[in-house]
Amino acid sequence: MSASSLHLLVLAAGNSTRLRTGHPKALLDLCGRPLLSYILSHAEPLQVASKTVVLGGNHIQAITSWLQGSEYSDWSIALQENPRGTGHAVQCALEQLPDEGRVLILCGDTPLLRPETLQELVKHGDALMTARVADPSGYGRIQRDDDGNLTAIIEDADTDEETRLINEMNAGVYVLDLAALRAAVAKLDSDNAQGELYLTDAALEVLTERGGATLCLEDGEEEIAGVNTLVDFSEVVAVMRWQILEAHLLAGVIIDDPSSTWVEHDVSIGPGTRIRPGSVLHAGVRVGKDCELGPYVRLRAGAVIEDGALAGNFVEMKNSTLGAGAKAKHLTYLGNTTVEEFANVGCGTITANYDGKKKHPTVIGSRASIGSGTILVAPVKIGAGATTAAGSVVTAGKDVPAGTVVAGIPAKPFSPKS
Ligand code: UD1
Ligand code: CA
Repeated sequence: MSASSLHLLVLAAGNSTRLRTGHPKALLDLCGRPLLSYILSHAEPLQVASKTVVLGGNHIQAITSWLQGSEYSDWSIALQENPRGTGHAVQCALEQLPDEGRVLILCGDTPLLRPETLQELVKHGDALMTARVADPSGYGRIQRDDDGNLTAIIEDADTDEETRLINEMNAGVYVLDLAALRAAVAKLDSDNAQGELYLTDAALEVLTERGGATLCLEDGEEEIAGVNTLVDFSEVVAVMRWQILEAHLLAGVIIDDPSSTWVEHDVSIGPGTRIRPGSVLHAGVRVGKDCELGPYVRLRAGAVIEDGALAGNFVEMKNSTLGAGAKAKHLTYLGNTTVEEFANVGCGTITANYDGKKKHPTVIGSRASIGSGTILVAPVKIGAGATTAAGSVVTAGKDVPAGTVVAGIPAKPFSPKS
């Protein structure tokens, strides 16, 4: 690896104490994906990252198994036992990093950082990212001399009356020469208010020695937000949620009431589709064009709504497809179900897809008509154009042939004369 290579280090070994949930911050779900996945995705376009190291601590097992099942490859994991601060974190991670080149250091708790911003930062060689903010409390403050040169990074706990007022904060994003960083972290001490080893002290030394850049985002308050407490998290959720909704609105999706609509990451929705209030669309859902959803629809993983279909109030779907032009207008659960085109699923229809051990499939054929209050016990198939009368219970394996009518409990072929 050449001296110009850039590596990536993500710090995620803190104890997440301030979160108070007992779970690792890096895996906290934000709109359908863990915080850590945003960090990794945003660093991905840099493509210069030759080696990616994720540093884990007490929660390293959970972080490792998430990484193993994720879309990311080419990462390695380092362990920080008994975390003693971000400087100690880097000491532990350096064992896994090459001797030469630079490292981009990101924290596992800043999911709103944009890839474009990182792209800009890495152009500058050794560099530190800062931001001007209205309320810098909780963050490290950036002290500069009269010429604008960086002179100190003062942690919130170490500020005095004067330095507390500085409104340029440390975003916690660094590009540092590995050899210089190695030397600097080796010298760190914990002579500060928190008794920790601060990465900021080492960064200051490297940047001063090598004449690195200190880049200030003048308008970066939202972007640099770090999640320390669940209050911080709720603010980040609000930003992310709006970013997602805004992208759909700009792409022609009619969202009647954005404030009550929850759309997670990685959801595709075609233009002309209308989403009514109170609707929830989880990660991975696919919706075609000119559909109608809600009010109060809940589309879970694996739900697919094809063009022109309608899922109305209190309809829940998981691993199910509602075919083109099909309707499920009220109070319905569809699990592991394929509803073919133009079928009508009546009010209160339930697919009983789970027998306590396994999930089973249901197929509702094209233009079939499922009467109100029907229970379809899977596995079962309703043929094209077939009808179930209101209140039918179609039992497992008792497929209904195309074009026929069934009624009753258990459902039997129905003829008006019998
Ligand atoms: C840190 C910076 C602060 C900056 C802020 C930006 C230091 C000393 N302070 O403060 O200047 O304004 O980020 O958000 O670096 N971590 C470990 N091991 C540890 C401690 C932390 O891996 O021993 C990880 C955490 O999991 C987290 C990241 O490092 O992802 C930052 O740690 P955190 O405790 O949140 O630092 P801040 O107090 O926010
Ligand atoms: Ca933080």
